Amino acid sequence: ATDPPTVFHWLPIIGSAIQYGNDPLNFFFECQKKYGDVFTFILLGRRVTVALGPKGNNFILGGKSTVFNAEDAYTHLTTPIFGKDVVYDVPNDVFMEQKRFVKVGLSTDNLRAYVGMIEDEIEEFLKHDPSFRTYQMNDINEWGTFDVVKVMQEITILTASRTLQGKEVREGLNKSFAEYYNDLDNGFTPINFLFPNLPLPSYRRRDAAHVKMSNFYVDIIKKRRAGHDDHEHDMIAALMQQKYRNGRLLNDKEIAHIMIAILMAGQHTSSATGSWALLHLAANPKVAEALYQEQVKYFTGPDGKMRPLTHEELRTLPILDSVIRETLRMHPPIHSIMRYVRDDVPVPATLSAPSKDGIYIVPKGNYVLASPAVSQSDPTVWKDAEKWDPYRWNDSEGVAAQAFKMYLDENGEKIDYGFGAVSKGTESPYQPFGAGKHRCIGEQFAYLQLGTLISTVVRSMEMRIDRVPDHNYHTMITMPKAPRDISYRRRHF
Ligand code: HEM
Repeated sequence: ATDPPTVFHWLPIIGSAIQYGNDPLNFFFECQKKYGDVFTFILLGRRVTVALGPKGNNFILGGKSTVFNAEDAYTHLTTPIFGKDVVYDVPNDVFMEQKRFVKVGLSTDNLRAYVGMIEDEIEEFLKHDPSFRTYQMNDINEWGTFDVVKVMQEITILTASRTLQGKEVREGLNKSFAEYYNDLDNGFTPINFLFPNLPLPSYRRRDAAHVKMSNFYVDIIKKRRAGHDDHEHDMIAALMQQKYRNGRLLNDKEIAHIMIAILMAGQHTSSATGSWALLHLAANPKVAEALYQEQVKYFTGPDGKMRPLTHEELRTLPILDSVIRETLRMHPPIHSIMRYVRDDVPVPATLSAPSKDGIYIVPKGNYVLASPAVSQSDPTVWKDAEKWDPYRWNDSEGVAAQAFKMYLDENGEKIDYGFGAVSKGTESPYQPFGAGKHRCIGEQFAYLQLGTLISTVVRSMEMRIDRVPDHNYHTMITMPKAPRDISYRRRHF
C-alpha cells in the first residue's frame, strides 16, 4: 500500500496554497484529471488528502469520528469565536447531544411561527432601508439598484434574530450587538483557519467581541430566568430546557456559546445562497416571471390580493423549491469540508481511477477534504452542468432520467440515485448540506428563510442584471465577486 499521489508543487511549505486559495474547484478538477479522485496536496505545511466524487464524499463524510475527526480540524478556528464547552471544543459525543438540543429549537411548530415574522421583517426592510429608495417612491416605472450581498447580509441577520435568536437580540441589532458581530465575523476567515493566533488587531478584536457577545447572551438568559417573559418559540427558550443524558441542564455559558455558533453557522451560508438566487433570477427574468406567476396562482385570495405564506405551502411550490435547490447545486456555500486523520486509513485505489489496483493509505496526521461542490458541478454527472437551470429538478420524467445524467460506477454501470435519494445518503453527487453525522441541521430553517425571502422579493419587484458574477473564494463562504448590483423596479404598490 502506498500514499495517495502528491500534487506537484515548486514551493516546499506553501505547496498548492495559492492555486487552492484562488480557485479551489478549478484546482480540484485539474488535479482530478492528472491524479484521479484521490490525491494529497500541501497547504502551508499541512498534508491534505482530497477524495472527490460521490464515493469520495462517502469515504470522508461517512467516516467515523475516531478516525476522521472534525474537532481537531476546526477547533482552533471556531472555539475563539463560539467559546468554550460547545461544538468543536468538546468530544464528538457531547457535541452530538448539543446538536440534538438545537433540533428541539428548530421544531416544525417553531418554524411554522417564523414565516410571518420573516415576511414582516423583509417588508419593513424594503419600506425603510436606503438601498430601496426607488421602491419607496412607489413609482413602478423608476429603476433603482441595490448591492445584493449587502442587502442579503442585513436581511439574513434581521430575520434570524427576529425568529431563532429572539427579541432581545433583534433589539440589540440596532445597538452594540451588530458591532460585536462584525468583530467576530472578521475573525472567521481562511487566514484564521491557517494561522490560529497572530498578534494582529483583528485577532484581539475577535477575542474581545467574543467576551462581550457571550456576556450579552448570558444577561438575556439571567433576565429570563428571573422574569416570566414568554418566549416559547425561540432557540434560547428551547435550550434552557435541555438536559444532557446524565440529567444536567445546559448552563448559561453553554447556551450563550451555542447561540453564537448558530448565529455564525446560519449567517453567511444563508445570505450567500440568497444573493446567488436573486442574481440568477435577475439574469433570468423568464424564470423570475414563472416564479411570480406561481406566487399569484397559489396565494391570490378571493379579494384579488396576495395573502401571506405558510410553512407547509412553501415546501410544495415546485418552482420556488427548484430555484433554491439549483442555486445550492451551483453555489454550495462551503466548498471544502475538512477532517483531521487520527489513524492510518486505507482507501481503495479504484476510488481514484478504475484501472488502479490495491489500496492507498491515508496516513495519520493528514487532513482529509471532501468537496461536494465538485460532484455538484461535474459535467459527467449533470447535463449542462455550468447552466443554472432550476427546471432540471422539475423534469416530469425524473431527475435521474433526463436532466440528471446518471453517475457511472467503476464498471460503467449506472448508479440510480433516484430523485428522492439525491441528497439523502452519504454517497450522492448532491450534498450542499453535507452528509453523515456532521450533516447540517439548519436545512429546514434555511429553506424557510430563503423561500420566504425569494417569494417576498419576487412579489414586490422585477430584477435585472447582465451577468452573474464569478465566485470569490477568498472568504470562508463562497460569495459573488463585486460588482453585484441588481437593477430593480417595483411591481405594484
Ligand atoms: C453543518 C451547510 C445553514 C447549522 C453544515 C455542513 C454543511 C452546511 C455543508 C457540514 C459541515 C461539515 O461536515 O463539516 C449549510 C448551508 C446552509 C446552512 C448550505 C444554508 C443555505 C445553517 C443554519 C444553521 C446551521 C441556518 C443553524 C440554524 C449547522 C450545524 C451544523 C451544520 C449545527 C453541524 C456541524 C457539525 O456537526 O460539525 N451546514 N448550512 N446551518 N450546520 Fe449548516
